[in-house]
Amino acid sequence: MNKYDSGTISQILLNKGYEQTPHIQDAHIIIINTCSVREKAEAKALTFTGRLSSLKRLRPDMIVGVIGCVAQEKGMSLFQRFPSLDLVLGPRNIYRIDEYLSRIQRGGERICALDIAADPLLFPRYNGHVRGKVTSFLKIMEGCDNFCSYCVVPYVRGRERSLPAKEIFDEATHLVSNGIKEITLIGQNVNSYNIRNSGSPKFPGLLRQLDSITGLMRLRFTTSHPKDFSEELIDCFGELSSLCPHIHLPIQSGSDKVLQLMNRGYTKESYISVIERIRKTRPDIAITSDLIVGFPGEMDEDFEESLQLIEEIQFDNLFSFKYSERPHTKATQFPGKVEGKEKQRRLSVLQERQREITLLKNMALEGTIQEVLVEGAGKRESDQSTGRTPGNKVVNFSAKDDLKGHLVKVRIVKGLQNSLLGELRDI
Ligand code: 5AD
Ligand code: SF4
Repeated sequence: MNKYDSGTISQILLNKGYEQTPHIQDAHIIIINTCSVREKAEAKALTFTGRLSSLKRLRPDMIVGVIGCVAQEKGMSLFQRFPSLDLVLGPRNIYRIDEYLSRIQRGGERICALDIAADPLLFPRYNGHVRGKVTSFLKIMEGCDNFCSYCVVPYVRGRERSLPAKEIFDEATHLVSNGIKEITLIGQNVNSYNIRNSGSPKFPGLLRQLDSITGLMRLRFTTSHPKDFSEELIDCFGELSSLCPHIHLPIQSGSDKVLQLMNRGYTKESYISVIERIRKTRPDIAITSDLIVGFPGEMDEDFEESLQLIEEIQFDNLFSFKYSERPHTKATQFPGKVEGKEKQRRLSVLQERQREITLLKNMALEGTIQEVLVEGAGKRESDQSTGRTPGNKVVNFSAKDDLKGHLVKVRIVKGLQNSLLGELRDI
């Protein structure tokens, strides 16, 4: 989501006539987009912001802005902490950045905009970093109403708002006409699209509309919530030719007790049942997930249940995190805090086991022929191309021609830890 927002503001500024520079010391404007989902990300952003003050001393005309979730959370206090800061914008206030920059340039004022109810309903044709690209994100909603007890997102991105389907469709068509072959729909909770505002279509209907766009080879979405995964959505995986066989479905814990404390609204059994039904409809589906260790009250036996769960489900990949206490959230008041060392131990055990599962999953693809959407040149060897399988796994293979944007058949010769190695079959 942050990458998408950064692309949006870059494009707003490019449209205004600004240019991008790869050298920070040449920049007239530096905008730091920030994430507050865990403390570490927030700390990194603030350290980076602090370091810019020496640059600003050398270049007093430079404008420095902090935007995104940390900006929303810390607000005006950032001006006290960083005297060199000119601009603070919450995630829902980024769309008028050009206007704010002009005001700062004219009058030397400092601007802080934090309206958390502001409409994100602007499709400024601004996700324009599409030139020369094959894949793109497309934001379909903003905010979250779920209030998981560990999560700061509802407090910094505000209430859930869905963008109108017509605008999404137009934007998707625009992207495809600019060379995009694969679109990933993004939102905090995409499968509740249009549910809160009783709008139409709902998420499966939106997928159907987008599937009809000629030239759109692949459609993906992230992130969805297990509690809102409808039968109709599962059916889409059997029906829509562009919808890729991959879902990212965060489980967060394998213990019902912890899931309840987290306010997730499902049990381990109901999660497994969703997975079983999706796998029945689309046996080749790749499944990835998120999991938190060391949530307050997580005992050894709860953690063991998380380990058992990853064993049972066999995720293709898992993003796992140590619980990080976040402002405003309910869990800050929960008893049973898990000590830092123990959180680290649990994380290491979990990650080690998942690494083995991921490798075995990748090795299981050896010998198969995969359809790969070529995204460009690989990083390692000069004749190497890179792309992704329908299940979203990176494949590197040798190719003499520039196949960017083409769907090609690749035979997988080796499953590695983070990617697959393949051989081109035909063009
Ligand atoms: N601590 C640790 N991980 C968190 N996540 C969200 N909030 C926290 C937190 N306070 C994780 C969840 C979510 C992912 C994006 O980040 O697993 O799915
Ligand atoms: Fe955070 Fe839960 Fe919303 Fe995801 S669903 S953004 S974890 S509150």
